[in-house]
Amino acid sequence: MSTELADALVSPAVHADEARIHALFSELRRTSPVHWTQPADYRPFWALTRHADIMEVSRKNDVFINSRRLNLMTRAQEAAAKRATSKFSGKYDRMYRTVAHMDNPDHREYRRVTAEWFMGPGVRKFEAAVATLAEESLDHIATFGGEPFDYAREVANLFPLRVIMSILGVPREDQPLMLRLTQEFFGADDADLGRDGTNTGQHFDLLREFFDYFTAMAADRRKSPRDDLATVIACGRPYDGPMGDLETASYYAVIATAGHDTTAAVTAGGLLALLENPNQWQKLRAVPEKIKGAVEEMLRWVSPVKHFLRTAREDYRLGDATIAAGDGVALFYPSANRDDAVFADPFRFDIERTPNRHLAFGFGGHMCLGLSLARLELTIFLRAFVRRVDSIEPAGEVQRIHANLVGGFKALPVRLGLVH
Ligand code: HEM
Repeated sequence: MSTELADALVSPAVHADEARIHALFSELRRTSPVHWTQPADYRPFWALTRHADIMEVSRKNDVFINSRRLNLMTRAQEAAAKRATSKFSGKYDRMYRTVAHMDNPDHREYRRVTAEWFMGPGVRKFEAAVATLAEESLDHIATFGGEPFDYAREVANLFPLRVIMSILGVPREDQPLMLRLTQEFFGADDADLGRDGTNTGQHFDLLREFFDYFTAMAADRRKSPRDDLATVIACGRPYDGPMGDLETASYYAVIATAGHDTTAAVTAGGLLALLENPNQWQKLRAVPEKIKGAVEEMLRWVSPVKHFLRTAREDYRLGDATIAAGDGVALFYPSANRDDAVFADPFRFDIERTPNRHLAFGFGGHMCLGLSLARLELTIFLRAFVRRVDSIEPAGEVQRIHANLVGGFKALPVRLGLVH
């Protein structure tokens, strides 16, 4: 593959251009599914585009590790991260250390702190609160009285933010600050959203703002524990000991960030898919029991997380390629989710698709910790939407965030008619 194609594969702007990025992925799946990629501004890596290969690498957490290199960053961004880390030194020995950055045995110990809460009763307890927030979103839609409005800004970006913040225990008055910080964080490559438009120096100051906020929150919960996720984290005991400040603040920050923009992207992208496929919208309205399948298809279709990286710890033969110890491997989830070896007619949006073994949440030991919560939110929201909205119409130009990590929408103008 030429440098030009390699550059396209990492380009935040190309990832925002669905037709272009999927044409590129389709070509790679067909001609070079385990592809040595050398973009001009990035360290080289193997690009994995097939569903089966991404599953294989994701499941081998002891061979393909997370701690060395988690995401695609330009060399300049990596250098800026290093500089920012040294600015932090004295207080922390590194900048950010979430469960996603860890390998075993730490990963197992730190994930265990919240796994039970996320997988079971913790999330279920919030069902009624999530339903109330969904109804509030629909009430807000009603205020537009069938006139055009920006669904991304007014609805999709706010609902998951409110859910995640109420679950974390961040009061409503602090939520605009969190919205700004997460958007700047994931939109760092987008000229309109990133703090300095270049995703270098100042970008890392954001982490400090998050950290100060969450360190204070943890101190509060340790002093006065409550029945919430913030307390579960603050009082978590990996290896039967207290959690370090860096790990505690990182834990909050990853939940605040990972739990918000991803779900927002599926909320908006799911509606866009329905706008583009009116027969699917009609089907959903006629038989609301199809909501569960619709949510899974929206996750497959939107695949908001574009990639994660692993690093090989030893030489590994994958297909026709030999991945050498130390090489980076990028898992391109949106590509896996259009692989025709797994999905019949993968470019058709079909809410009745079954089975639907998409990889939107990743796979293996690092598979999304928040997937039950994300499914719950999306299902409850869609249920309220289908019950109260009776007509949907596009109303202007759709704008996507330029990002190669978590995609999303800057604008999705629509006109929605409400029954009540
Ligand atoms: C539609 C919504 C979401 C999508 C598509 C999504 C996707 C992903 C993906 C692809 C990964 C990496 C998996 C891997 O490496 O195999 C991940 C990890 C993670 N997600 Fe999500 N996510 C979503 C929502 C959430 C929510 C709501 C939360 C928390 C409240 C969350 C928290 C996390 C955490 C903590 C990890 C790291 C897990 C680990 O490394 O062990 N995510 N997610």
